[in-house]
Amino acid sequence: MAKKFHIETYGCQMNVADSEVVAAILTAKGFEHIKDKNEADIILVNTCSIRENAEQRVRGRVQGFTEIRKRNPKLLIGVMGCMAERLGEKLFEEEKNINILVGPDAYLDLPLLIEKASKGEKAINIELSTTETYKEICPTRLDETAISGFVSIMRGCNNFCTYCIVPYTRGRERSRSHNSIIKEVVDLQSKGYKEVTLLGQNVNSYLYKEEENKVDFPSLLELVAKTVPNMRIRFATSHPKDMSDETLAVIARWSNICKSIHLPVQSGSNSVLKDMNRKYTREWYLDRIDAIHRIIPECGISTDLFVGFHNESEEDYQQTLDLMREVCFDLAYMFKYSERPGTKASKTMPDNIDEETKSRRLQDLIELQSASSLESNRRDIGKTFEVLVEGISKRSQEEMYGRSSQNKVIVFPAQGIEIGSLVNVTVRKCTSATLMGEMLTD
Ligand code: 5AD
Ligand code: SF4
Repeated sequence: MAKKFHIETYGCQMNVADSEVVAAILTAKGFEHIKDKNEADIILVNTCSIRENAEQRVRGRVQGFTEIRKRNPKLLIGVMGCMAERLGEKLFEEEKNINILVGPDAYLDLPLLIEKASKGEKAINIELSTTETYKEICPTRLDETAISGFVSIMRGCNNFCTYCIVPYTRGRERSRSHNSIIKEVVDLQSKGYKEVTLLGQNVNSYLYKEEENKVDFPSLLELVAKTVPNMRIRFATSHPKDMSDETLAVIARWSNICKSIHLPVQSGSNSVLKDMNRKYTREWYLDRIDAIHRIIPECGISTDLFVGFHNESEEDYQQTLDLMREVCFDLAYMFKYSERPGTKASKTMPDNIDEETKSRRLQDLIELQSASSLESNRRDIGKTFEVLVEGISKRSQEEMYGRSSQNKVIVFPAQGIEIGSLVNVTVRKCTSATLMGEMLTD
């Protein structure tokens, strides 16, 4: 009988895409994917190391599987992804429940690791690669809605922001061939998907070289837009230093490329940005925001920020608030600095902002962002947006919801509209988190 595996995914969208690659690798070897972990022979947890609390959550989860193992003593527990890479063998010692550890570049080895673990041995492969892109693997889609899918276009990161663990857990940057990307996008389309998000740690530095030929990010984006004119295209994440006018022009030119850009700023202070090794200044960032407004009017803009990095003074922090007021982001993901062992900051830049200050700064940041989101949403009242319908509202059977090109969620009264269809909705009301509107019928 086929062995059954279950995958639980934490962390970024890249991890969601990787879990689908792993599902494809295992399915091809005769394993069966199941949704109920209680029925599984193998439970895999795809993990994140970005902040200490992300790792704590996974440890709690892995410890919780003890109950399932009591019922099924042969259960294998595997930890994959960034935590496996960062902690290696140490994780076997710290979490006795774990049988398998596999890093982000070693997923093709997973069937062998499972075989080894089922003989009672500890199985580990955390080798990083400079070339692995899993380009031959057509991912098994695990998402049930089958509307919006991810395609990874590059792996790893070369930026070495001083606070960030990613270059250590995901290794060096490498771009996947445009042909294999296009093949995967077309496959999504043939399966009925209406939207694709091109993924990478730093998508706008995408560069694929093949003999004389070079494909950069704007060319790739245009190629995808041209190939699947009826699909919506999104991409994440962009680094401000690589956000070129050329990329913005491609987004403006193609109606199927969503008018939404996620551009993590991290801090509004030049001295903090310098310590972070972000390679841009506040002025550069604001110039890129101006360029977005100029080239793509009506573009949604979101960001990531974190407070309490090494030496962040009250003045530095005020600069961040000030930048947020100036840009008025539609959406922001906000965090407290969490020191990650092994990073440059952990070695040379003491984590010297106390917890109380971090919490207060984060709280004020969240409040300011909530006001910005509300302001941005209020500006949409009276406007009509094309919405890709994603489902029935959790609050009411009589309402459906979807997303605008700008990546805002819009709820509207409707029944029986096919999920995955495009409808026009006029916004009538809003909160800071959601737009509410009426569908246009004609
Ligand atoms: N501490 C807190 N936040 C971090 N991020 C990355 N590393 C850290 C860290 N050590 C945030 C950044 C990044 C997002 C994915 O997570 O804002 O853009
Ligand atoms: Fe977390 Fe970064 Fe790894 Fe994604 S790449 S799982 S965000 S540490």
